[in-house]
Amino acid sequence: MQYRKIPKIDWKPSSLGFGAMRLPIINGNQAKVDIPAATQMIRYAINHGVNYLDTAYFYHNGYAEQAVAQALKDGYREKIKLATKFPAREVKSRADFDGAFERQLERLQTDKIDFYLLHGLHRPMWDELRDMGIIPWLESKVTDGRVDYLGFSFHDELEYFKSIVDAYDNWAFCQVHFNYMDVDYQAGRRGIEYAAGKNLGVFIMEPLRGGQLAQKQPEPVAKVWENARVQRTPVEWALRWIWSYQEVSMILSGMSTMEQVIENVAIAERSGNSRLNKRELVTVEQARQAYKDLQPVPCTGCRYCMPCENSVEIPVIFRIYNEMKMYGATPMTKMLYGGGFWGVTQEQNATHCIECGKCSEACPQHIEISDWLKKVHQELTGLK
Ligand SMILES: NC(=O)c1ccc[n+]([C@@H]2O[C@H](COP(=O)([O-])OP(=O)(O)OC[C@H]3O[C@@H](n4cnc5c(N)ncnc54)[C@H](OP(=O)(O)O)[C@@H]3O)[C@@H](O)[C@H]2O)c1
Repeated sequence: MQYRKIPKIDWKPSSLGFGAMRLPIINGNQAKVDIPAATQMIRYAINHGVNYLDTAYFYHNGYAEQAVAQALKDGYREKIKLATKFPAREVKSRADFDGAFERQLERLQTDKIDFYLLHGLHRPMWDELRDMGIIPWLESKVTDGRVDYLGFSFHDELEYFKSIVDAYDNWAFCQVHFNYMDVDYQAGRRGIEYAAGKNLGVFIMEPLRGGQLAQKQPEPVAKVWENARVQRTPVEWALRWIWSYQEVSMILSGMSTMEQVIENVAIAERSGNSRLNKRELVTVEQARQAYKDLQPVPCTGCRYCMPCENSVEIPVIFRIYNEMKMYGATPMTKMLYGGGFWGVTQEQNATHCIECGKCSEACPQHIEISDWLKKVHQELTGLK
């Protein structure tokens, strides 16, 4: 295994960490982790030098921490740094904090959490937590010796990321979404540089876009990889592109099968500290462009078309559609479009368009928005 660094910490993280959000499950039930399979996978990774495991209160419908505890029996707990996350969505007031934390220790069967994160921070959540006194509470856990290092994972815009980095001097690390398709998304490249500039460790999540960059590649993307001078799997290209950022302390990989663990560990063993050269970076840039060229609607997400008087969430609808065309439809696609899951609601869907044309007039790309909305609605609702 190759190891990297976290500026404020005298311990070297393995270039690949184990993300326990996508453990193997039984009969498609997220709450039923296949514990023998997960144990084998986690122990294989640890035996090959992975020294960090990331879980959270909510993963696998609340059962991931328990599954991880099983895998870390027989001395494995002592071989790694264990990270989990404060379940902000579960608490209503300061009085609930201790109860949630004690539940986590119990589920994890441990008396200490090495790396403790505020989970998925975004603007309103951070403001509420801060007002409830989260920072002094977190510090009390460090003083009691029940947490070693404090950090946060993040899902919001760059400026906001910077303000959280600056809000507290003792963050040791942060965790951000980053992959070669999402370079300037959320914290993004500039956020990573900013956090590293303030001596925070930077942990990367969703390095394969939740698996989308590992699936069967669309033909134009597959061609780019085929034409590259060096032959690598799409997974290896994606991970090596991230490791090329020296600011990155670790890539967290969500692995669902033993084969994936074996492949990703092997990639980290040979490349976890290397950087792509200029020619290789151009290859990845070409793959990114080949994906982007698959987007039918030239929407840049600028939101000049908004607000729509009838509440149609135009840019989000086009994003869902374009992503389906780039990476293929998944069960999540349907949920994102009116399925009540972090996308558009029924009230915001394309059927509410009255073809007033104001959005198209405002669109810098001159997109025929109402025509596209009809087509997109038909395709998205026609998904099986
Ligand atoms: N704090 C937060 O808000 C937050 C949010 C997201 C993630 N995270 C953490 O970050 C970790 C990493 O994110 P992620 O799980 O989204 O990682 P990811 O690497 O982008 O996606 C994981 C998926 O990629 C596929 N995959 C991985 N290795 C592969 C290989 N060698 N060959 C083929 N497919 C492969 C698998 O998909 P299939 O199952 O489809 O095969 C796997 O489930 C998570 O596990 C979690 O610990 C935190």
